[in-house]
Amino acid sequence: MVIMKNIFKFIKSKDNNKTIQEAIELPVTLYPITSPLEEVTSIISDYEVNILNIVPVEIKDNLIQNNIELVIPNPHIFITFESEKGIYKYVLLEPPVNNVVFNTYITFINEIERELLSKTAGLDLAKIILELNRKRPDLKIIQEKRGEVNVLSTNARIVLYYLLRNMFGYNILTALVADKDIEDISVSGMYNPVYIYHRSYEYIPTNIVFQKNMKISPQLNLTIDGEELLDQLVLRLLSLTGKSISVADPIQDGMLPNGDRVAATFRREVSASGSTLVIRRFPEKPITILDLINSGTISADIAAYLWYAMDMRMSIMSIGVTGAGKTTLLNAVLNLVKESMKIVSIEDIPEIRIAHSNWTQLYARPAYAGVGKEISLMDLLKLSLRYRPDLIVVGEIRGQEAYVLFQAISTGHGGATTLHAYNTDSAIKRLMNEPLNIPQEWIPMMNIIMTIRRLPVYIGERIVLRRRVVAIDEIISWNDYRRVASWDPKSDSFTLNLDAARVLRNRIEEAGLNLDDVKKEIERRALFLKLLASARDIIQHEESYKLVKSYIIKYSLKPEEALKEAQAISRTKIVEVKG
Ligand SMILES: Nc1ncnc2c1ncn2[C@@H]1O[C@H](COP(=O)(O)OP(=O)(O)OP(=O)(O)O)[C@@H](O)[C@H]1O
Ligand SMILES: [Mg+2]
Repeated sequence: MVIMKNIFKFIKSKDNNKTIQEAIELPVTLYPITSPLEEVTSIISDYEVNILNIVPVEIKDNLIQNNIELVIPNPHIFITFESEKGIYKYVLLEPPVNNVVFNTYITFINEIERELLSKTAGLDLAKIILELNRKRPDLKIIQEKRGEVNVLSTNARIVLYYLLRNMFGYNILTALVADKDIEDISVSGMYNPVYIYHRSYEYIPTNIVFQKNMKISPQLNLTIDGEELLDQLVLRLLSLTGKSISVADPIQDGMLPNGDRVAATFRREVSASGSTLVIRRFPEKPITILDLINSGTISADIAAYLWYAMDMRMSIMSIGVTGAGKTTLLNAVLNLVKESMKIVSIEDIPEIRIAHSNWTQLYARPAYAGVGKEISLMDLLKLSLRYRPDLIVVGEIRGQEAYVLFQAISTGHGGATTLHAYNTDSAIKRLMNEPLNIPQEWIPMMNIIMTIRRLPVYIGERIVLRRRVVAIDEIISWNDYRRVASWDPKSDSFTLNLDAARVLRNRIEEAGLNLDDVKKEIERRALFLKLLASARDIIQHEESYKLVKSYIIKYSLKPEEALKEAQAISRTKIVEVKG
């Protein structure tokens, strides 16, 4: 399993009292495997990543309270540009593991193992460090005492780095998970570089490649089985989500304790090149409608139209391909919903994050290895109707739950969801066919379909991938919809055409309102959103989605005053409003 060349422990054989050698079998994820060295040619940028935030607080406290200086080296990132191929690359450089570091590391692992076997309480890492320092002066663990504080030697710091990384992180993927600039990490099996989506450089390869014979570090002549490592990392990540993956059940997804999402396949059951894995970062702070306006994903007037439509209790669906930004868009729009409306959300993985107080968030759970009853989206949807919600949000419709959602909308509830589809035509086709099976005459109950895409956009001379809400349609019947908003790729701009908003107009008429007044109201809301979008104090705030919500509430109570306040905090004093 593990290919080991020179790590042995000596044990006495019982029969003949001869000393025999036995290889130490470490779980493969515990090896201090480092990324291969790489010649870096033209460096575009470089920075360090701190992996300490993946370490449990108890462990950090244990060290600090025992006067052990908690300083570990940071992995270093180089972003390089290969001009011949025209590609950027993410090169991870971790602290070097030479023979001394490796042997000290193994000594530590043995001690930790003994310590964990001898007692049931948590890991006392500080005790192990202090004891080993006493027992093994040759390892030079503590370099000096600075007052009360024990300062670790450089080698000991490197050892601690790998101990923390491998016990609490994900071995060679840890630095990527800790890098806040990375949106997602994809491992597509063996021998392919691990790819990441970087906030500044988009999809780029890294210097990490899982391979059968993987060198532990450039300085050591030891190899491990990289396929085993990848399998074990998949198992570990999924066990952290509370789910399991196996040869019998080789496709799984779930959510890590920090909110990141994981999807994986196991071994060669469904993928030719071995286990595959995608980790998607849960954004630290929800992306708000103001962020979407500022990044050009949507325009302020389209956002204002959606806000007004939500007030008119129109049902709404966000469509696009995988990772297009459907859920993010829906979240941003839901955060505009009137505070007086009662929202119940139903999801497989809790992704909806809104600052709405009258909100019940329900999520499904699988049956855990035969114990515990499975709670499906259907179960929750049926339950939710008893909560008498004004708005039912289903995170994503994929199966029978679509039928129940449409049924709920038909009995007067508001509805919002996402669906995997390329455009409105294909979304409607998907709705009417297996396994969703929505009857033709129910289709117009979904009033608005928004399409979001990730597309190449020119920013100056450079082509970059950006997210754009490319179309908003109001649904009149299964074969008739009206384009209310669209995006023009040539000018990278949006058009809102309220005259096409047939469904909204019906609602307005039913409510005894006048279309021209509504147009003015939507314009005023667009101005309000534009002003807020230029207010640094709001968009840069840690909890910006809560602030956005508070302004939405202010506006719903006293629009003129809210507008004045927005004017006051905005950086743009004079704002043009398009009609
Ligand atoms: N407009 C945006 N600007 C920046 N990042 C975005 C934007 N929209 C989405 N993202 C990021 O892209 C990732 C995928 O977004 P999201 O989950 O909304 O996509 P999705 O279409 O719902 O994906 P899925 O197909 O998995 O349901 C997330 O990490 C999210 O934070
Ligand atoms: Mg989604």
